[in-house]
Amino acid sequence: MHHFLSLADLTAEHLSGLLDLAVDLKNEWKTGPNRPLLGRKTLGMIFQKPSLRTRASFEMAMLHLGGQALYFSPFEIQLGERESVADVSRVFSRYVDGIMARVFGHDDILTLAEYSSVPVINGLSDYNHPCQALSDLLTIIEKKGRDLEYLKLAFLGDGNNVATSLLFGAALTGMDFAIGGPPGYELPADVWEQAKLLATEHGSTLSAAHDPTEAVADADVVYTDVWASMGEEEEAEERARLFRPYQVNDALLEGAQPDVIVMHCLPAHRGQEITDAVCDGPHSVLWDQAENRMHAQKAILVRLMGEGQA
Ligand code: CP
Ligand code: NVA
Repeated sequence: MHHFLSLADLTAEHLSGLLDLAVDLKNEWKTGPNRPLLGRKTLGMIFQKPSLRTRASFEMAMLHLGGQALYFSPFEIQLGERESVADVSRVFSRYVDGIMARVFGHDDILTLAEYSSVPVINGLSDYNHPCQALSDLLTIIEKKGRDLEYLKLAFLGDGNNVATSLLFGAALTGMDFAIGGPPGYELPADVWEQAKLLATEHGSTLSAAHDPTEAVADADVVYTDVWASMGEEEEAEERARLFRPYQVNDALLEGAQPDVIVMHCLPAHRGQEITDAVCDGPHSVLWDQAENRMHAQKAILVRLMGEGQA
C-alpha cells in the first residue's frame, strides 16, 4: 500500500489487515498511550473544504502516535490556483512524511499522488471518502461482529462520495448493500461496475431502489448522509424536496431489523435526512462512529508511514 485513495484499490486481505490494526490501536489507546509508532513523522494536511472530524481525528492520531500534523486551510495553498497541483505535491512532499488532502475534484487527489514522493491519503473528494468507510466498517464490526457477510447495509439518500466508498467497502467484505434514493441521484455507472466485480468475488448482493422501504427492508445497518454535499449548496433547496421520502425516521426504521444500527458520517442536517429522534435514539451509533475515524486513520497512517512497525 503506497497511497490510500480508494477502498477499491485494496484487496480484501489488505482491508481486513487494516481493520485488525485499527482494533489493536484502539484497544492500546483505551488502556494507555499508543506506542510512538510514528515518532518524529509528519503529516501535511491540505483542505479545500471545511472539516471537523477529518482534521481533528488526523491531527490527534498523529499526536497519539508520536508525530505531528501540519494543517493548511482552503485559503492558504489554494490548490491549483496559486500554483499547479503537481507543483504543490512536488514541494510539499519534500517537507513531510505523508500528505492528507480533502479536495473537490478527485483528479486533484490522483495528481497529488502521482507527483508526491510520500504517501497520499484521500480525506474526501467529490468522488469518494475512503477514510470514512474504513472507520465505518470498524464501527459495524464493533456493534455487529466480524462476520460482515451476514449483514445488510442500507444507504438512504444521494449516490455520493460516502455512498461510493461504503459500496466498495461492502463489496470487499461480503456485506450486502442496498441504496434508496430518487431518480437522477443514483451512484455512477462506473462505480457500480467496479463494485459488482468485487461483490462477485466476495459474495455481496448489491441493489438500488427508488422505494426507501424496499432499500431498508431487513437492514442491519441504516446509513444516511447530507442530501447536498459540500460544493452543492446551491442545489440544497431542490434536493430537500426530492429527497424528503428518504428521510431516516422512526417509521422508516420499522422495516429494518429490530436491532438495526443507524449511522451518519456527520455533519447531520437534523430534520432533513435524519430526525432528532433517530439521531439521539436507541439505534444511533453516531458518536462512536465519529470517534472511530481517529482509530481507523491511525491504522492507515501506521501502514503508510510506520516503516513496517505494528
Ligand atoms: N465525516 C466527515 O468527514 O466529517 P468532516 O467533514 O467534519 O471532516
Ligand atoms: N457527502 C458529504 C460528506 C461530508 C463528510 C460531503 O461531501 O459534503
